[in-house]
Amino acid sequence: MQAEEHEVNERAYRRLLDELFEARQAAWMGGSDATRKKHLKRHRILVRDRIELLLDEGSPFLELGELAGEGMYKGVGPGAGLVTGIGLVQQKACMIIANDPTVKGGTYFGMTVKKHVRAQQFALQHRLPCVTLVDSGGAFLPDQANIFPDDNHFGAMFRYQVEMSSQGIAQIAVVLGACTAGGAYIPALCDEVVIVRGKGFMYLGGPQLVQAATGEIVDAEHLGGAEMHSRLSGVTDHLAEDDGHAIAIARQLVQELPPMAAPLRDRIQAQPPARPVTDIYRLISPNSKIPTPTREVLKCLLDAGEMTEFKSEFGDTLITGFARMGGWRVGVLANAGVLFTESAIKATHFIDLCCKRDIPLLFLADVSGFMVGRNAEEGGIAKAGARFITAMSSARVPKFTIITGGSYGAGYLAMCGRAFRPNAMFMWPNGRSAIMGPDQAATTLALVKRHNIEAQGLSWSPEEEEAFKAPIREQYETFAAARNFARHLWVDGILDPAETRETLTLLLDLAARVPSEPTQFGVFRM
Ligand code: COA
Repeated sequence: MQAEEHEVNERAYRRLLDELFEARQAAWMGGSDATRKKHLKRHRILVRDRIELLLDEGSPFLELGELAGEGMYKGVGPGAGLVTGIGLVQQKACMIIANDPTVKGGTYFGMTVKKHVRAQQFALQHRLPCVTLVDSGGAFLPDQANIFPDDNHFGAMFRYQVEMSSQGIAQIAVVLGACTAGGAYIPALCDEVVIVRGKGFMYLGGPQLVQAATGEIVDAEHLGGAEMHSRLSGVTDHLAEDDGHAIAIARQLVQELPPMAAPLRDRIQAQPPARPVTDIYRLISPNSKIPTPTREVLKCLLDAGEMTEFKSEFGDTLITGFARMGGWRVGVLANAGVLFTESAIKATHFIDLCCKRDIPLLFLADVSGFMVGRNAEEGGIAKAGARFITAMSSARVPKFTIITGGSYGAGYLAMCGRAFRPNAMFMWPNGRSAIMGPDQAATTLALVKRHNIEAQGLSWSPEEEEAFKAPIREQYETFAAARNFARHLWVDGILDPAETRETLTLLLDLAARVPSEPTQFGVFRM
């Protein structure tokens, strides 16, 4: 029976993975066939090939926000016209930020800005040099409300550049196309700029805008060409003959940077997990009401499948313990049911230990929330939950979150939700998250409505109630989906469970090279 169930689970999971890989394929393509052909005809290299040239041979490339903006902008595929990710250049981990000029001229939509800023936040936190391959017409003008006026809009990209530069985190730009307005400020705010002769342009206003604004008629080359900027304005520092040459110069510039910092945490020989990681597909049911056996999942993820469990007999709806991932030590917090007062107390104690021992925290979130009801309230669950949140939020060790199942309400938040700025946050394709589950939301709203209707002395038939509930459920399901979280950048991406170990190993390596600040906990309500 179990074997049969496992097969059903695996078939369903592989369908989810097929959908994920299809979306990734669309992201990798960038613009339409026609725009890509136009780009190649201009003897320019496509964005992903540019990145490949920039990275060391065989370097990993951990992409952030791969599916950002999916389905949000007409005629724009997933990715929002920008590729961001971490890879090795001259054996130094760098943040690569690259416009895709085949997507609306590499212009910035709201999600493009959000993705660019997120890449910079990651780079700042991990002190990674940024190499920006600029090929952008600046703002996508119709979307100005989402890119221009607010904090974390276009200006934030400049602010992060300045902040990183002032902290000695290198900023290198390669100008590969016509960079207008905001697209010109990005390289102008970098430490060093490479520009391609005859292809790279930088100007605050292009020839048409200049003519409209001042009446001056000037061609692109004289207004902001590579020769002009390299010989006259001094805006750029290195003149390249073509895309390939420019990227080779950028690699040379990275070569001149100081070496990568050494890791500050110990790493032992990594060991494969006790069970194949692909067994996870077999363990997760397509029926979200069937709980996932968390301990079995941990055997598929952790080195040797081993964990020194902490308080295994107490608050057992949360599993906590010390383990290794790719040889790096981690403190694991993994849900195995609803959070009770005891599980919250245990989490608080465990997080305190990890902070004292400088152990990064790994949250594996699959939680319907905190327990509700009279017993729970009398037991002080609000104060225990507050302690958990205080500990998690105050912790200054690196934090990583993977949403491995349904992660709802305050449970989602306590398991290091996005607001608590985990170093990175990913979701598995089966992952879901919302304020509450679809059924609970529909039932809660129906109860409120029934109460109001009956207070007026009217009646509400079960059929009417169901007609009211169905669209709420549907809306909650669409909202909670991993793809929805990924396209809004509420997570850094969707991971095939089989990619989780490799991704976390890389992230732990990056985090180990940055000194942890000491943790100062907020007040723990007793
Ligand atoms: N806002 C909105 N849409 C823009 C845009 C902008 N700033 N710049 C370009 N686009 C759109 C074009 O309308 C076109 O859309 P379509 O595919 O639906 O026809 C698409 O992006 C590609 O532009 P196109 O001019 O055909 O491509 P190109 O590779 O020849 O040139 C640019 C790209 C960016 C150099 C050129 O479009 C340009 O100079 N744009 C104006 C840039 C500008 O003035 N920005 C000011 C921002 S404050």
